[in-house]
Amino acid sequence: MSDLQPRKDLLDIESLSLEEIEYVLNNAVPFKQLFQRSVKKVPTLRGKTVLNLFYEPSTRTSSSFEVAASRLSADVTNFAVGSSSVVKGESLLDTIETLQAMRSDYIVIRHKGAGVPGIVAKHTNASVLNAGDGYHAHPTQALLDAMTFREVCPDYAGKKVVIVGDILHSRVARSTSTLFHKLGIEVGVLGPGSLIPEGRHDFMQRLASWDDVFDWGPDAVYLLRVQLERQEGQFFPGIAEYHKMYGLNSGRLSQMRERGTWLMHPGPVNRGVEVTDEAMGYEKSLISTQVENGIAVRMAVLHWLKPETQQD
Ligand code: CP
Repeated sequence: MSDLQPRKDLLDIESLSLEEIEYVLNNAVPFKQLFQRSVKKVPTLRGKTVLNLFYEPSTRTSSSFEVAASRLSADVTNFAVGSSSVVKGESLLDTIETLQAMRSDYIVIRHKGAGVPGIVAKHTNASVLNAGDGYHAHPTQALLDAMTFREVCPDYAGKKVVIVGDILHSRVARSTSTLFHKLGIEVGVLGPGSLIPEGRHDFMQRLASWDDVFDWGPDAVYLLRVQLERQEGQFFPGIAEYHKMYGLNSGRLSQMRERGTWLMHPGPVNRGVEVTDEAMGYEKSLISTQVENGIAVRMAVLHWLKPETQQD
């Protein structure tokens, strides 16, 4: 593994240099190879503590961070927000001060407020890892997406990925498109006009229909879930209409199969909305690989970050 100056926190993709991105992606590879062994643990973070602090629901990210930390031999605490004093009105900063007194080395935080992990990072010596904040960022998702795409397209510069769905409300779309762009991968977007933000990323190719997508010729289609929980207004006529216009139906799947196009999705999926049962069984789906790579990438990030609590 090459050497690179460690940093304290991972809050977004924008602040990462290409060298830092490649360092994490390269270091994730030997961590993934570890998963083939009967003993999947290394002593890298023995004696260190990782606190998982999820203010929003999560299946993949929370369990993946937990597995990653335990494979590095760290002690992991899952802070149960729903049964904590947060429900009695304790403020975020009071909670952080209490947790700071426990001297955690790493805090993994997901919160509905954009920028909250950054605020926490300023108030703690622990390394803070953003596990998703509002519409803003989901940096480890982007890194695992890049690792997954690199595995199937090792010569990734100049390749094309189209992101389909609710770009406006998606922190995944923001972080993953930024990271792919930094790596020289072309990014297209398809979705209802009301869910495509104006002027956020000028580098993204706007596509108007699935026919446009197939004309553009992406190497991978990256589907997003419609985030009904983040929508305050009505952004499209209805779920059935959305599925008809933007869902990966049987005909579109056949075209992907003919072209050998990869399928990606960050999860959780909404079957019958952006994807069908048939598409979930597609032989070029990378969805399970994304989950597996999530553990390897998070091990690489935990290994790289250096808390201010750490003297050695
Ligand atoms: N991809 C992702 O963030 O999934 P979870 O919400 O299950 O963590």
